[in-house]
Amino acid sequence: MILDTKTLLVKAKEEGYAVGAFNTVNLETTKAILNAAEELRAPVIVQITEKTMDYAGGRALYFLVRNMAEFYHPDLPVAIHLDHGKSLDVVERAIEIGFPSVMYDGSRHPYVDNVRVARQVVEFAHAKGVSVQGELGNVPYLSEVRGEVDWDEYMTDPDEAVRFVGDTGIDTLAVAIGNAHGFAMERPEPDYDRLSKISSLVSVPLVLHGASDWEDGKVTEVIRRGISCFNVDTAIKLAFIGAVTHAVEENGKTDIRDLVGPAMEAVQTEVMRKIRLFEGEGKAEGFASSVAS
Ligand code: 13P
Ligand code: ZN
Repeated sequence: MILDTKTLLVKAKEEGYAVGAFNTVNLETTKAILNAAEELRAPVIVQITEKTMDYAGGRALYFLVRNMAEFYHPDLPVAIHLDHGKSLDVVERAIEIGFPSVMYDGSRHPYVDNVRVARQVVEFAHAKGVSVQGELGNVPYLSEVRGEVDWDEYMTDPDEAVRFVGDTGIDTLAVAIGNAHGFAMERPEPDYDRLSKISSLVSVPLVLHGASDWEDGKVTEVIRRGISCFNVDTAIKLAFIGAVTHAVEENGKTDIRDLVGPAMEAVQTEVMRKIRLFEGEGKAEGFASSVAS
């Protein structure tokens, strides 16, 4: 059952759990994500970045995910989502392919420019029944933030967040509260009070990027304070690469399936661990039939 992310996340917000949004790059990660969600009967978001669209072919990977979900998991709520679309152009391309859900990430632009493009995205997307995630504040990539970091500079301002949602009409909001993409040696404590403030002021579901390596206690605490979705990319990459490396070094395999088969299993295990942590297990029931054509 293909749905948009708004449908999944509004329900998660109401019921106080979070949905995992897992990045795929190929057949193996897609299959692992869908099997994990099926085994735990959890709603799931499978997402594809702009870079992955260029790598795999946006159309090819979108229809791979869609066909696998519809054929093998017809009653599992699955959203297919464009992650970190950086321009109106790429968002339009994704929507034309059929994505029921997109992110426009204008977080690096000044507020007015972020709003201007996000509004255009919302107008284009909503006319086609597609839901839109925006980002305010900036979730940095750890490779960019070496040395002394003033994390406050990246964080979402709660009052500005309210204005942003009103000015743009977005359906879900990605926030920055000390989170950062990649795996960190050191990172700040999450700004829990800031999250509670945003959550009390903003009505749309909140999304957290860049928290793949957070300790379990932090994850549970931000769900309690209003996070309805976690993006997971780095944890998948590490599981995949670790298993492939092991297969090459320990077993000297040469058949591609012998190398990526264990990687698929390792990703499935990691995705299941995350889904349990997000309290999504058993939450697949109660969704209306497909909204995507
Ligand atoms: P991680 O790097 O923490 O996995 O973040 C993933 C993400 O935000 C994808 O958009
Ligand atoms: Zn992200």
